[in-house]
Amino acid sequence: MKAVLIPGDGIGKEISQSVEAVTKALNLDIEWLKYDAGAEYAADTKEVFEPGLVEAIQEHKWALKGPTATPIGTGFRSVNVALRQKFETYANVRPIKSIPGTNSRYDNIDLVIIRENTEDLYKGIEYKIGDDVAHGIKLITRQASEKIARYAFDYARSNGRKKVTCVHKANIMKFTDGLFLESFNDVAKEYPEIASEAVIVDNMCMQLVIRPENYDVLVAPNLYGDIVSDLCAGLIGGLGFAPSGNIGDDYRIYEAVHGSAPDIAGQNKANPSALLLAFALMIEDMGDKANAKKLRDAIIDTVAKGDVVTSDIGGAATTQEFTQAIIERF
Ligand code: NAI
Repeated sequence: MKAVLIPGDGIGKEISQSVEAVTKALNLDIEWLKYDAGAEYAADTKEVFEPGLVEAIQEHKWALKGPTATPIGTGFRSVNVALRQKFETYANVRPIKSIPGTNSRYDNIDLVIIRENTEDLYKGIEYKIGDDVAHGIKLITRQASEKIARYAFDYARSNGRKKVTCVHKANIMKFTDGLFLESFNDVAKEYPEIASEAVIVDNMCMQLVIRPENYDVLVAPNLYGDIVSDLCAGLIGGLGFAPSGNIGDDYRIYEAVHGSAPDIAGQNKANPSALLLAFALMIEDMGDKANAKKLRDAIIDTVAKGDVVTSDIGGAATTQEFTQAIIERF
């Protein structure tokens, strides 16, 4: 089958080569259609997406995306936000699972963050009122809030998870987060066998640092979901190990949680694990559970052995050497 590969910016080109190498080594029936997008492409062409990219996703439905850089303060809108809104990938699913051998304070974390992906402050409704005042709108709808809550409970039900925690700040944002929380509580009633609770986002951050093992599935509006996911990535040894899937009714776009890492780009030392774990999620969702497990196990084994790993986890291997070590474990 055909699927779209967007290498993206910075380390994206290096780590997406790992995906191509793994696709070949596992002999997967995936033909990658490669398209450029992001800041580097925009600098050369003044366009954010290569022509044909959107149509290719429309046609083939599956995509894997490397990180794309977004200018801060000015410039074009995020490629990620644009793709998520264009393809209505309303659920951003981010599994956070301890990997033995990583430099982490915990070894028992197994939780999943489900982030609402289409609205909230990311809707991009903001403008300046003169030079000294700016105004941004936090948009929350019952429809999207119920949809993401239902996705979280369905995910819990089909993955043997026991509890869903709603992350919010409804004490302060009474209408917007209040509506998100109310929708969550309404949907929770349809799933009596799954425990539900609500935790205010600031307290959530502290609880995750103190006792992350208490959490199972978290569901959050867009902004809190974004921030809490990086916190959780830190609990399992860093951004190098956090994959994600942007899931919609018709389209799926998988990516690493991390960004383009400009500080290490072009040095051949990026950890490809997060993008490879995102690829594992993708092939699992395509129905190939055996190869998804093979890939995930090979990453875990390579990291646990620790002799051929990248510098973010204490090794000296290049991205290619690390990828090759993973492939040898197949
Ligand atoms: P970042 O995630 O790119 O980097 C944060 C730190 O983690 C850096 O020290 C980096 O070297 C390290 N790091 C990240 N991924 C790594 C990997 N695979 N292996 C080893 N070390 C890794 O975050 P930052 O610097 O805030 O953002 C850089 C750019 O990426 C920005 O333009 C931002 O907008 C974009 N970004 C894109 C995302 C996406 O496309 N999904 C997500 C997050 C940020």
